[in-house]
Formats: sequence, C-alpha cells, structure tokens
Amino acid sequence: MAAPLPIARPNPFDPPAVLLDGAPLRPLAFPDGHVGWLVTDHAVAREVLADRRFTSRLEFRRSPVHRPNVPNFQAGQAALPGFFIAMDPPDHTRYRRALTGQFTVRRMNQLRPRVEQIVAERLDLLEQAGPGSDLVATFALPVPSLVICELLGVPYADRALFQNASAVLLRLGVSDAEAGEAMATLLGYLKELIARTRREPGDDILGGLAESGTLDDEELLGIALLLLVAGHETTANMLALGTFALLRHPEQAEALRAGTVSADSAVEELLRYLSITQFGTGRAALEDVDLAGQHIKAGDMVIVSIPAANRSSDRFADPHTLDLGRDARGHLAFGHGVHQCLGQQLARIEMRAGYTALFRRFPALRLAVPADEVPLRHDMAIYGVHALPVEWS
Ligand code: HEM
Repeated sequence: MAAPLPIARPNPFDPPAVLLDGAPLRPLAFPDGHVGWLVTDHAVAREVLADRRFTSRLEFRRSPVHRPNVPNFQAGQAALPGFFIAMDPPDHTRYRRALTGQFTVRRMNQLRPRVEQIVAERLDLLEQAGPGSDLVATFALPVPSLVICELLGVPYADRALFQNASAVLLRLGVSDAEAGEAMATLLGYLKELIARTRREPGDDILGGLAESGTLDDEELLGIALLLLVAGHETTANMLALGTFALLRHPEQAEALRAGTVSADSAVEELLRYLSITQFGTGRAALEDVDLAGQHIKAGDMVIVSIPAANRSSDRFADPHTLDLGRDARGHLAFGHGVHQCLGQQLARIEMRAGYTALFRRFPALRLAVPADEVPLRHDMAIYGVHALPVEWS
C-alpha cells in the first residue's frame, strides 16, 4: 500500500526513518487519490532531476504532496510569468539567462565584504539583546533578508510585509483564503516596487533587469516574487538549524571555530546533513518512463526527497554522521539539473560568514532551553526551527 509522504523528523536533524531504507523509487500516495512516486536515493534523484521527460510545469502537477495543502497550489494552474522555477526549457532558459547575468561570480564576490559587515552588525545586536535572545529573530532571519533586500532593491524597512506573507505561504495547512490574501499582499507590494524601479532603476538586480528592456512588468513581478521568497527563507533556516546542529555537536563547532575545518567544507556538510527543502523538488512525467526497475506512467507525479537522497549510503560513507571535515560535494541540497539553485553562491557566502563569525564571537554559545523544547518547523515547507533561544557567558 502506498503511503503519503511523512514529514516529522524523529530527531531534529534526521529525515523520517521510513525514508532511510527501502526501495530507491517507491509508490507515494497523493491527496487527490493518485499514486505517484517518491525518490529517496541519490543516483535516482539525479536522474529524475536531469531528465527532460519530467516537467517542473505547475499545470502538469495533479496534486499537492500533502493535504493540508502545500500552500498556494492550484492543480492545473500555470505559473505566473517570470516564475521560472515552475517552467521548463525553453521558457525557463530565457529567464534563467536573464538572471545569471545578474548573479555573476564577480558580483557575488564583491558582495562578500558587505555580507560580512551585515553579519557583524547583527552579532552586535545579538550581544546587546543579551543571553536568552532568539537567534532566529536577531540573526538568522535578518542576515539573508537584509542581503536579498539590498540585492533586489527592496527597502528593508518593509521586511515585516514580505517576511509575514512568505511565512503564511510556506505554512502547511494554511487555508486557501489566507494563502490568497498573503499572495495578494505580496504581489501588490512588488507591483509598486516594480513601478518605482521602472521610474528610477537602481544599481540592483531588479534595476538591472528593468533596464535590460527584455522583460515586461508581469515577468519582473514573477521573478521578484521568486527571488524574494527563495532568497530569505531558505538561508535563514539553514543558518538557524545549522547553528542548532553545531550546538548539539560541540566538537564540530569547535573545529569550525578553531579553523581545523574550513568554512567551505562545513557549509557543504551542513547543507547535506540538514537538507531543509522538504517538498521543493516535485516533477510530473510527460511520458512513460522506466526507471530503477519501475514503470512510471505519463502524468504520474514524482517527488524527490532531497533529505533522504543526501543520506544515501552508496554516495556518502556513514551518511547519518555530521562530519564537517568530509567531502560533501555532490550533495543535492541545491537540487540538480537546469533548476539547480540560482542563489547557491550567495547562500554559501552568507552561511560561511554567518557560522564562522557566530562561533568566533560567542565561543561559549549554547542553547538557553532544553534541546527538546526548540520548536521545529514540521509545519513548514522549508524545514528548520521557529526559534532558537541561545545564551553565552
Ligand atoms: C532553486 C534550495 C537559497 C533562489 C532551488 C532548488 C533548491 C534550492 C533545492 C531547486 C528546486 C527544483 O529543482 O525544483 C536552496 C537552499 C538555499 C537556497 C537549500 C539556502 C541554503 C537561495 C537563495 C536564492 C535562491 C539565497 C536567491 C537569491 C533560487 C531560485 C531557484 C532556486 C531562483 C530556481 C532556479 C531555477 O528554476 O532555475 N533552490 N536555495 N535560493 N533557488 Fe534556491
């Protein structure tokens, strides 16, 4: 009997146990009653994500993964123009190209000192707030929010609006009415922003895109929506959950602080070990496909469990151990294939700067509550912690 996708993690860091053994490609029950597929293996995950016979287009998705809904899912509805994560080539290619011109390695490298400055300022504020403060509210959420605001040309003063609306949209079980309202608020806000950018394009990504002359307002809107939501929630949860994991593995935190493991290697391993994207990578088969000994029928949905794939023992030795010194490259935390995360270099810069500076500034950092009282984001499409009270002495 096919079961629905389990969500709750038995301990804060490991994927649900049932995902960690069994067939690499197995039947998965969807809420609309159809039985699709779940991929839990690294090699099969790469195959699916690189295979053009599996589409990202929303209109081919018959069902959300869960009911209560993964929010804002409307079966059969096409993506907004510009919302290219939910498109296939060649539509996808056109937008992705327009964006890669903005997310260059050079621009990202230029951004590094600014990211380090933002991190340092937030750590000053954490220190001022004093022991017992919530690391999510004072550090993990503000750092990527400030960075994406600067990159996009969104005033940080407006953060409450987009942070609250994103939180509603990513909450499992949100009602259609509430999700619709949050989406309308976000789109209304971004429409005004785009009108302003058209009048006075700034030296930021939206300004650059507006000046390129190749995208209309609707397309700019979809792009801005995707970047704003993808750009702050994901990295924020990696920063907070990664800190929680390091606090529960003090010898690993010490190795990072002392520099015996590099920040680069630590970040890759935390990405692999924590794999916060719970449902992001869904596809639908455009035609019948034989894969991993199974017959996938045209129209079937396929969900790639990145958390499970990144724990494949045939790809990573001792996969359930957090080992910051290992070579974790090749993990799938940023996906694979044409949709591989556009913001990955930016996220890496933020995480390298964030973890290193945090553990150097507060060598005695520890949880201010028992570990089992840290509120986990089982209820959100992007996993992490809702709050992380910390102290130091
Ligand atoms: C795509 C994860 C940070 C923007 C993706 C995908 C994953 C992912 C798994 C692939 C989705 C798919 O194949 O369907 C993450 C994680 C992050 C992160 C774990 C942080 C640690 C960011 C940031 C930005 C961003 C900071 C923006 C500045 C995007 C965009 C796409 C994407 C635009 C769509 C790319 C495409 O369709 O071509 N991300 N992401 N992400 N991400 Fe990220």
